[in-house]
Amino acid sequence: MKPGIEWRQPRASADSEQFAADLHAALSRSPKAISPKYFYDEAGSQLFERICELPEYYPTRTELALLQTHAADMAAQMGAQVQLVEYGAGALRKVRLLLDAIPRDSVQFVPVDISGPHLLAACDGLAGDYPGLAIQPLVADFTRPHTLPPCPDGSRRVGFFPGSSIGNFTPAEADAFLRLAAGELAGGGLLIGIDLEKDHDTLHAAYNDAAGVTAAFNLNVLDRARKELDAQFPQDGFEHLAFYNPAYRRIEMHLRARQALELALGGEVYTFHEGETLHTEHSHKYTVSGFQAMAARAGFKPGKVWTDANGWFAVLWLEAGQHE
Ligand code: AVJ
Repeated sequence: MKPGIEWRQPRASADSEQFAADLHAALSRSPKAISPKYFYDEAGSQLFERICELPEYYPTRTELALLQTHAADMAAQMGAQVQLVEYGAGALRKVRLLLDAIPRDSVQFVPVDISGPHLLAACDGLAGDYPGLAIQPLVADFTRPHTLPPCPDGSRRVGFFPGSSIGNFTPAEADAFLRLAAGELAGGGLLIGIDLEKDHDTLHAAYNDAAGVTAAFNLNVLDRARKELDAQFPQDGFEHLAFYNPAYRRIEMHLRARQALELALGGEVYTFHEGETLHTEHSHKYTVSGFQAMAARAGFKPGKVWTDANGWFAVLWLEAGQHE
């Protein structure tokens, strides 16, 4: 396979126009809610990386340890020749552990991410550390229709979706993503990380860190609206709110108005009453069997599972059936 970085569609999909349109829609609905994908501009992506280092935020280090320990076993499920597609690639830290377990010339790596500059920087770093690795980055919103580079002859297409990013999706969205993935990964499989149900104090602390990094990450959506879209609202008008909602088995993050206030955006004025929130994220927690059942409905055959001693996080192998 041809080594080096080959760019496809080097164009930001989540541009400011899309953000403006989605933010108007978010502020018009009741309750107000916006997609968490808008967290990840350059500043937000960097804040997220700091979250991953926090003592309270267990998912990243737990998953890294699983990948570290079981990479060879995981690679063995994938097969000898793979086109490895990472959904929501981010910093490209985790995939290195997998790549270390696969011969360099038997893999083509396709990182897909919404943040172009961040992906570019991450790919540069990866290419430097893995000379000879074929990298075909794709700047795209992988929840929308996108076109992957063709799978090289003789390779299986394998998805990698770590970090419990799927937790951001509602069950309906997760189902839609898994169906889309089962289609484009047909004949291969999906390696996916999921955050598991656990005691509520541990969950709460992970999204309410003492250093306030998660708060800054959450508030960055509005900083972005101010900088990118010239949105106007009182300085310190909003505060970070994160809690576990047991009815939905998810952490919810919101931005809460500290007082009644107005937010002006492109000629429209949106009002918040005191305590009203803009819902910014949910982070669903699963059981292994519950997730496998959902994946099976979407067309996957559940395979091996790797989990830590606490049972806090799991990496699952899911086989994607052949196209008929
Ligand atoms: C990247 C979606 C897995 O839900 O834990 C971290 C994002 N939000 N802290 C998560 C996040 C607040 C994270 N995911």
